[in-house]
Amino acid sequence: LDLAEALDLLPKVELHCHVEGTMRPGTVLELARRHGLALPTENLDELYSYTSLNEFLSIFWLVQSTLGGRDDWARLGYESVVDAAAHGRVYAEMFFTPARHLDTGQRLADIVSGLADGIAAAEAETGARAMLIADIDRAFGPAPGLQMVTELGELRRSGSPGIERVLGVGMDSTELGVDPKSFTKAYRAAAGFGFRLTGHQGENSPASAIAEVIDVLGAERIDHGLSLVDDPELVRRFAAERIPLTVCPNSNIRIANAFPALAQHPYPAMRAAGLLATLNTDDPAMTDLDLGYEYASVAEAFDYTFDDMVTIALDGVDATWLADDAKHALR
Ligand code: ADE
Ligand code: ZN
Repeated sequence: LDLAEALDLLPKVELHCHVEGTMRPGTVLELARRHGLALPTENLDELYSYTSLNEFLSIFWLVQSTLGGRDDWARLGYESVVDAAAHGRVYAEMFFTPARHLDTGQRLADIVSGLADGIAAAEAETGARAMLIADIDRAFGPAPGLQMVTELGELRRSGSPGIERVLGVGMDSTELGVDPKSFTKAYRAAAGFGFRLTGHQGENSPASAIAEVIDVLGAERIDHGLSLVDDPELVRRFAAERIPLTVCPNSNIRIANAFPALAQHPYPAMRAAGLLATLNTDDPAMTDLDLGYEYASVAEAFDYTFDDMVTIALDGVDATWLADDAKHALR
């Protein structure tokens, strides 16, 4: 067993993974055909080529639009958990971002119950578990964000099927020209309904925006958080308060084009500064990644030992929104 094989088998959790970004290439093509959606090319290697976050997002949105209804969401939830379990993922808190589906008339209740059914089937088969985080799509602006949160709260109040899978609310999509504070109402409402809070920030926005997501929106975690390293004072605070960052090093190279190679990624500096910086894939099927490779490539690039990687995996468990006894069971 070499290090890469051992890290593929190591039980791992994942806190930054978009369920739509895990869609199998064959499923993308099949759903696109079924719903009469013309893709610019049927060669997905060609389709998945981008040089910036915003270019990537336009392709992510195309993949999202192949999800035509409850059955498609159920299939996606199932395949997503099965595929990740094959690389040692035992637990995940996974994003779904339903803004464009809600905009075209799909019901949030169907999306949630479809995903939940698919995940439950995969759990029964693999023993790996997954929960959900409903992400606001920033490209749609604050009002649809607040509307989604309000509907989530109603689903929770009425005990809608599968809603117990949704642990929290986050936000993703574009950061450029978006003021995180404009989502304050949505985040307040989410907290009021008892949802946990996270948010994508610092993928290509400054450290000051990361601070606002924590201090103004009340988030408990930051997804990406790359630019945090530009503000040593804020780094010290995040380390002292053990505020988790869900870092996606390979995604930052392949999607955000933030660094030429892993060697230039600040991940080791983040760990050395004492940050609770976890490892995650982001959109594995669209970037040809898996969580085993994420761990193996980071270990190789930064000369981490198996024990170092176990420490990182355990930090992942700490950063989950599980209760203490459930965290303990994963250690
Ligand atoms: N949606 C899917 N992947 C994303 C990423 N890396 N950043 C922002 N939004 C996303
Ligand atoms: Zn992401």
